[in-house]
Amino acid sequence: MGGLSTRAPKELPRRNTTIDLIRYLYPRLFLGRRDEVRSRESESRFPKATLTRKAAFVRVLPSSDHGIQDKDALVSDVRGLVDIHCHLLPGVDDGPPEWSVSLETARALVAQGVSCAIATPHQLGVYPNNHGEMIRQRTAELQDLLASEGGPLQVLPGAEIHIEATLMPRLRSGQLLTLADRGRHVLIEMPEAVFLPPGRLVAELKAAGIVVVLAHPERNRGAMGHPELLDAAVRDGCLLQVTAGSLTGLFGSRVQAFAETLVRRGLVRLVATDAHGPQGRATALRPAYLRVVQWIGEKAAEELFSTDPSRIATGSVVASGRRNVEKSGWSKWFARKSAA
Ligand SMILES: [Fe+2]
Repeated sequence: MGGLSTRAPKELPRRNTTIDLIRYLYPRLFLGRRDEVRSRESESRFPKATLTRKAAFVRVLPSSDHGIQDKDALVSDVRGLVDIHCHLLPGVDDGPPEWSVSLETARALVAQGVSCAIATPHQLGVYPNNHGEMIRQRTAELQDLLASEGGPLQVLPGAEIHIEATLMPRLRSGQLLTLADRGRHVLIEMPEAVFLPPGRLVAELKAAGIVVVLAHPERNRGAMGHPELLDAAVRDGCLLQVTAGSLTGLFGSRVQAFAETLVRRGLVRLVATDAHGPQGRATALRPAYLRVVQWIGEKAAEELFSTDPSRIATGSVVASGRRNVEKSGWSKWFARKSAA
C-alpha cells in the first residue's frame, strides 16, 4: 500500500532526462492530477498519500440536478465515501446483535472514510418480518445515537431484498425499502447457489422507474466463471455492486479473481462493504480501493467507490451499461509507474 502514492512530487526529479520530463508533465497535462491532494488534504480521515482528494471528498450532486425531487435534502452535501450496503441495525438480521455493536460497526466504517451509510438489513427470504417502517425507525434511532456521541456518520434507511416474484406490490406499499428510501434503486440479493437471470424483474421495476442494484454477484456460484451472465444482466439495466472484501480476498481466491475480472471488464458500478459487524468486511473498503486503482486507474475507482454510491444516496441517476475502463498506452504506462 505504501508504494501506491497518488501524490504528485513537488519537484522535478534530479536527473532530468527526457523520459523523466515526460513522466512529470504527462499526468499534469492530460490526467488532471495537477492539484490533486494539495487542497483539503488535511481534512482527510485517510492517511495521506493513500487516496486522492477527489476520492475522499466528493460532494454529492443534488438530485434536482437530474430532474428528481430531493425529498428531504438529507444528503445535500455529503463529504466522504458512501457505503450503500451494510448491516448496521441491531437485532434485525445477521448483522450486529445489539446497539453497542452497531455503534462499533459505524465507527469502523468512519475509520475507512465513510461519511454516509445506507443501512440495508435483509428483507424477505429468511427475514420475512423486517418491515420497512421498522427499518426506518431503527435507522433514525441509530442516527440519534451517533449524533449524541458526536459521530460524523450519516445513516439512511434501505434494505437488501431477497429476490422474489412479488416484489413490486410490496415495494409500492412501503413494506420493502428502496436504497436511501428514495424510490429510485433497489438492492436485490440472489440465492448464492444459483444465478437467476434478472431480466424480467429488471423490466418490471424499470417500468416503475426503479433500477435494480445486484448485490455481490461475484459470490454467486451460478455466475462464477461466467461473466457473460453478468454481462447480460448489465445489458438488461442492472447495476452490479461488488463487496469490498471480495476484492481483497476475504472470500477466497476464486471469488477474488472473479471480482477482479468483473471490475476489469467494466461490469461493476458500485463497491460497498456489506459489513455485518466491526471486523472483516467493514475494514476492507480502503484496501479494496487501492487495488482497484491499480487495476483500472484512479478516476474509474473513484466512480465505483464514491461518485456513483453518492448518487444512489441522493436518488440520482447512475449511468447503466458496461463502463469503459480501457486505457490508452500512455495511461497504462503511468498507472504501472505510480503503482510500482
Ligand atoms: Fe448484505
